[in-house]
Amino acid sequence: MEPLVDSYGRRHNNLRISVTDRCNIRCFYCMPEDAKNFQPKPEILTFEEVERFVRVAVSLGVNKLRITGGEPLLRKDLPVLIEKLARIPGVEDLAMTTNGVLLSQHARALYDAGLRRLNVHLDTLDRERFRQITRRDDFERVLEGIELARSLGFGPIKINAVAVKNLVEADIVPLARYGRERGIEIRYIEFMPLDSQGLWDRSKVLLMDDMLDMLRREIGPLDAVPDQDPRAPATAFRFSDGIGGVGFIASVSKPFCLNCNRIRLTADGHLRYCLFAIEEKNVKALMRGGAGDEDIAALIRVSVGEKWLGHEINSQKFVPPPRPMYAIGG
Ligand code: 5AD
Ligand code: SF4
Repeated sequence: MEPLVDSYGRRHNNLRISVTDRCNIRCFYCMPEDAKNFQPKPEILTFEEVERFVRVAVSLGVNKLRITGGEPLLRKDLPVLIEKLARIPGVEDLAMTTNGVLLSQHARALYDAGLRRLNVHLDTLDRERFRQITRRDDFERVLEGIELARSLGFGPIKINAVAVKNLVEADIVPLARYGRERGIEIRYIEFMPLDSQGLWDRSKVLLMDDMLDMLRREIGPLDAVPDQDPRAPATAFRFSDGIGGVGFIASVSKPFCLNCNRIRLTADGHLRYCLFAIEEKNVKALMRGGAGDEDIAALIRVSVGEKWLGHEINSQKFVPPPRPMYAIGG
């Protein structure tokens, strides 16, 4: 089978699967306080449909999967899906991104289902700021979830922290220290225009270089990790004392689109070639209309074939995607 290569020569081997558009917290940069219009259950792909799609994608060379949401742990029986996906021959890497609130409840079952790699979303170690950002008071539950996951043997565990200017400056250094003490990589994500309320503008992005300055000043020298996988979205640094490191997903200051290898399946069964894509392909309609695997494969190829060079966050031309982050799947 020919690999999935787009018209810019980028080979696609990485699929992100959103399993629900719902979330149990309300990070302001993602969801409005009164989020509604979630997809009704019949619109959400079943586990069988997800598994079928993944098998087809794997036959085209996809070998890395990430489960996302909304909050994936709100999906009933998620470990059942994890187990199905972990068993598919050709799946070499399976990870999940969660906000961690329900992690302590589900960590054991997820581990038993075969999941090892976890990214937990946590922007602050300050309970009050956590509440301000997420509009929920679940800070301790997230910390408990991370601790339990560590003790069960999950690894690597990474923390995703969204970097919003004039908000989280005081959290950058404590988070890095927390990570250093626990062997957890903190990955700072520059705030992106994906919020549902049009809050974003460039002046609200805390940039990688500013965060690097803060970390170097307060903790110590940081060196860029040599020979990094150019397809990884994060730029990694190590502290020169040998204890831990941090990463940056610098989507705004250093876009990594030229090395993108990702496609995305939304919870309601649409295929997107980019987080910021305006158009998507309706895989669900195809599957529910009785299409064969070869039709699904052809649709994946068409979507990848139409993929653009990259987002235009930094230009006047930028058009925000029609769906917010939680409906797309981080
Ligand atoms: N900008 C940057 N990152 C975001 N996330 C959610 N919304 C935004 C945004 N507007 C991150 C969360 C989540 C990951 C999937 O995306 O940290 O962990
Ligand atoms: Fe939920 Fe993640 Fe959006 Fe926060 S960023 S509201 S945790 S889906």
